[in-house]
Amino acid sequence: MKSPSLKNLSKNFRSRSPFEWLLLFLVSVLVVIALLGSSSSTFNSVTSSVKNDIYTNYRKLKEQARSDYLELKSLAVGENQIKDVGVCGKERENYVPCYNVSANILAGLKDGEELDRHCELSQERQYCLIRPPKDYKIPLSWPAGRDVIWSGNVKLTKDQFLSSGSIMKRLMLLEENQIAFHSQDGMMVDDVKDYSHQIAEMIGLGSDTEFLQAGVRTVLDIGCGFGSFSAHLLSLNLMALCVAAYGSSGSHVQVALERGLPAVIGNFISKQLPFPSLSYDMVHCAQCGVIWDSKDGLFLIEIDRVLKPGGYFVLTSSTTQQQGSSTGAKKGIMSAPLEEFTKKLCWSLLEQQDETFIWQKTVDSQCYTSGSKQDTIPICKGQDMQLYYQPLAHCISGTGSDRWVPIHSRSDSMNSTELKVHGVYPDTFFEDSEFWKSAVRNYWSLLSPLIFSDHPKRPGDDDPLPPYNMVRNVLDMNAHYGGLNAALLEAGKSVWVMNVVPLGVHNTLPLILDRGFAGVLHNWCEPFPTYPRTYDLLHGSGLLSHLESQGCSIVEVLFEMDRILRPEGWIILSDKLGPIEKVRMVATQMRWEARVVDLQDGSDQRLLVCQKSFVRK
Ligand SMILES: *[C@@H]1O[C@H](CO)[C@@H](O)[C@H](O)[C@H]1NC(C)=O
Ligand SMILES: *[C@@H]1O[C@H](CO)[C@@H](O)[C@H](O)[C@H]1NC(C)=O
Repeated sequence: MKSPSLKNLSKNFRSRSPFEWLLLFLVSVLVVIALLGSSSSTFNSVTSSVKNDIYTNYRKLKEQARSDYLELKSLAVGENQIKDVGVCGKERENYVPCYNVSANILAGLKDGEELDRHCELSQERQYCLIRPPKDYKIPLSWPAGRDVIWSGNVKLTKDQFLSSGSIMKRLMLLEENQIAFHSQDGMMVDDVKDYSHQIAEMIGLGSDTEFLQAGVRTVLDIGCGFGSFSAHLLSLNLMALCVAAYGSSGSHVQVALERGLPAVIGNFISKQLPFPSLSYDMVHCAQCGVIWDSKDGLFLIEIDRVLKPGGYFVLTSSTTQQQGSSTGAKKGIMSAPLEEFTKKLCWSLLEQQDETFIWQKTVDSQCYTSGSKQDTIPICKGQDMQLYYQPLAHCISGTGSDRWVPIHSRSDSMNSTELKVHGVYPDTFFEDSEFWKSAVRNYWSLLSPLIFSDHPKRPGDDDPLPPYNMVRNVLDMNAHYGGLNAALLEAGKSVWVMNVVPLGVHNTLPLILDRGFAGVLHNWCEPFPTYPRTYDLLHGSGLLSHLESQGCSIVEVLFEMDRILRPEGWIILSDKLGPIEKVRMVATQMRWEARVVDLQDGSDQRLLVCQKSFVRK
């Protein structure tokens, strides 16, 4: 099938005749009436306690509303029938935009920068749907899917798995079409547990269950192997986010996300990581490929930037040996430059065991300036603004920040003093939390008939326990304070949320990260740095209005959403009626099951709930 050109598509999208808009309006009225009518009747017959919940009975309606809609649509468009969007070629199965190395080299980028993200150089947009690989299967649900994945879903060959030697990477193949990260006899798991335990001991703790008490709540894992260390930290209730470079032949990020572990494509070859300063309690690198003592310590300075005061840098590396003499047989040896740089950064080396080094960042913001002039790194001028695509800087950040709080002396949850640092009133924050708690209840009852279709659930029943939970990786495309994330956790859902703070809105990312959640800054006029099919649920509250205000192409963002959503995954958009109706039209062309839900609160806000279909050809 040929894909319609962008021109036609945006024509469909933008310039509808008044008659077509009238029909659209009629359709939405029909849907709303249908929703109202049937929800009240079935509700009363099942239970009256949830009478006010207008979201249920979604599935039955789907059939009816769809036929209504199709009928009206065929009336409206006549012979100018809107065509479904076509499917991309096989070569795009694992396509990640903005990482075209040959285009980067042509543009003269070198010294590793050709591996960097350069959206401006990859304008090869095609308006087609990325198809899943031939053997693609819906991932196993959490937590089974953490330990066993379908080998057809990721672009890594078994040979690549087997040849990767480090303790983080070792794993075992179970059967023909599965890869297991959890051997029967527990060997692999024990390796990771021992390693984690060793790190805990090196920072003076009795066991790794004490990380949280010691103030270690968030970990940035650079390189991250296949995510087994992150998986272990998650089981200890830490948030571990994996950041690893793009690889055209598949990557650790793809595997980690397939396992339901937090991960995003990123590097810091020439640009800073998409996080504000003072973000993480621990940064971890096990054979992560960064040459730390190069570029005058620039990479170490970037680590210092994202570490919170009193935070830890854990480096497990055999490459430090190469710098030393050959006599350093078993022990890693710190190179002279590395030792010098870490001293300048005011890091104290806590301990070294085998090939693992742990440094602690200073809690004293004066420390950086206390040395002699030639021994110090200058303090950055100006405070963290909305940092994005900022070049790596040879200066120290965060020392003047109100967020300079040592990790072991902060409170467990945001107290009013801490909220004030972020410019948020406690009342506003509380209202936001309440709003999201109720929104999550509503979302879940909307999705439940679909998620639990094999396990019928009545309104009022408790959600079935995992393994029936089909939602694990959630992308909140306009995360605000991270309220959706907090509410999902509070409701006991076994999900993790990637909280995206779009460029151009108030930068709440520091608040989100200080809450212990995962998050990044992102410009939605550009593709998101992840592999296809990596999220189960995409959520955007006010996203469409934001995109309009930024002048981004909504159609492009919808194609991007289709790329990163797994087959049969869900999308929930909440916005004003206008943009919601526009998107609904395109959604249908993209073969999403799309339904508009009226919130019945007298506002012009609507929900658009979509499910991506499993397109095979
Ligand atoms: C990458 O860039 C090259 C050179 O500009 C171009 O020929 C090629 O089609 C691009 N690759 C992809 C996957 O778009
Ligand atoms: C809030 O937490 C901070 C530590 O981050 C602490 O210094 C402060 O005393 C706490 N304030 C209140 C009102 O509990």
